[in-house]
Amino acid sequence: MRRESSIHGQWSSKLVFVLAATGSAVGLGNIWRFPYIAGENGGGAFVLIYLACILLIGLPIMMAEIALGRRGRQSPINTMATLSREEGLHRAWGFVGWLGVAAGFIILSYYSVIAGWSLSYVFRAGGGAFTGLDADGVRGMFESLVSDPERLLAWHTLFMIMNVLVVARGVRSGLEKAVKFLMPALLGLLLLLVGYSMSQGHFMEGVSFLFKPDWSEVTGDTILLAMGQAFFTLSLGMGAIMIYGSYLSSRASIFKTSAMVVSADTAVALLAGLAIFPIVFAGGLAPGEGPGLIFITLPMAFAEMPGGLVFGTLFFLLLVTAAWTSSISLMEPAVAWLVENRGLDRPMAAVIVGGIAWFLGLGTILSFSLWSNPIGFNLTLGGEALFIGGTLFEMADYLTSNIMLPLGGLLIALFVGWRMTQRSVEDELGLHSRAFFRAWYYVLRFAAPIGILLVFLKAVNLI
Ligand code: TRP
Repeated sequence: MRRESSIHGQWSSKLVFVLAATGSAVGLGNIWRFPYIAGENGGGAFVLIYLACILLIGLPIMMAEIALGRRGRQSPINTMATLSREEGLHRAWGFVGWLGVAAGFIILSYYSVIAGWSLSYVFRAGGGAFTGLDADGVRGMFESLVSDPERLLAWHTLFMIMNVLVVARGVRSGLEKAVKFLMPALLGLLLLLVGYSMSQGHFMEGVSFLFKPDWSEVTGDTILLAMGQAFFTLSLGMGAIMIYGSYLSSRASIFKTSAMVVSADTAVALLAGLAIFPIVFAGGLAPGEGPGLIFITLPMAFAEMPGGLVFGTLFFLLLVTAAWTSSISLMEPAVAWLVENRGLDRPMAAVIVGGIAWFLGLGTILSFSLWSNPIGFNLTLGGEALFIGGTLFEMADYLTSNIMLPLGGLLIALFVGWRMTQRSVEDELGLHSRAFFRAWYYVLRFAAPIGILLVFLKAVNLI
């Protein structure tokens, strides 16, 4: 059955959907997470595996998620329940929606804390705090911020309020406006930074770190992290793209829109890498610096370049915006569900969802100070002693990106590829070329799920 619209509203055009989905995809994942995870995992080989995951797993699953959302036209939980009913399948498929909502809360909880760091950096950059600082100076500044839970709490709270305000206003008046102008501006500033790196940094060293693979460093965990990053950066596996798809007009092409979102997202991540690593090497810093990487490297660049005060302020402002247009998509599935099933109005639902994620975020805040000692246990696997655990932030990040999102994606691929009738899938996707449909269907049925399963097995050393 084809529903023409959702009770929550509809994007005013196909282009707006692309911008909103790009807004969701492009965020801290591209500019903060991608460089630091790539840096910790040796660069080149990680990046190539990540790109392969984007193409082979990410793009086909994004198309499947949009198709599901548009067919169900409800929150992911209700979309999965309704479509299972229509297709005569087991109710248990609703689990995919619940898994996504849980992942959304956990991601949002730490995402907002990191966005808070970025907010605080807007004011530091604007106030000229970077001027004259060397590598040790910027590191000191970063460390004094993250070790101060009260300051982090204030920024985290402010960012969460910003999210609630937008989500409360709804799809159209809330986020459409923001994404139209800010995304292109962000791209412009990134290009400027890459230009700076080319002229000042150790550019070729950065390029070879980012693209020259050293396969000897690759372990099962590297592959899992690369796949996790692909899911995270494309906002896949938890229903965010699904619910955005539910606000998309029935006439828009799912393939074209997905291809645009995926290309834009990948371009931003690679540009961020090209901007950051040359500065890392020029400043004698380590690529494996961890979550502080961009907060330590970029201020050094802004401290030196002409106009650095203005560009630095603008950059962090745009980073906050990119994070903002992403985090609202993390809230939307749960908010839509509360409206549908609990009869709440949007503002109330947004406050509840924001409040829960805000509370969970306290765990991340303390992970950098009072609770910075890793918690976990030792496991002996095949004679090798292994520590499983970390800080709450590390666990939240690892569990969601590397386990929950790929698992959600796997279930979505299986549902669309194997459980729904081919007719409904073809009808919803509306691809004009049969050969093209077959190719996509094949990848979704075989390549993507088998790929995800193999990566899971490899990560726990079973293959
Ligand atoms: N993709 C966003 C980023 O890269 C984060 C994000 C938004 C997300 N919505 C999501 C990640 C849903 C996973 C699932 O910053």
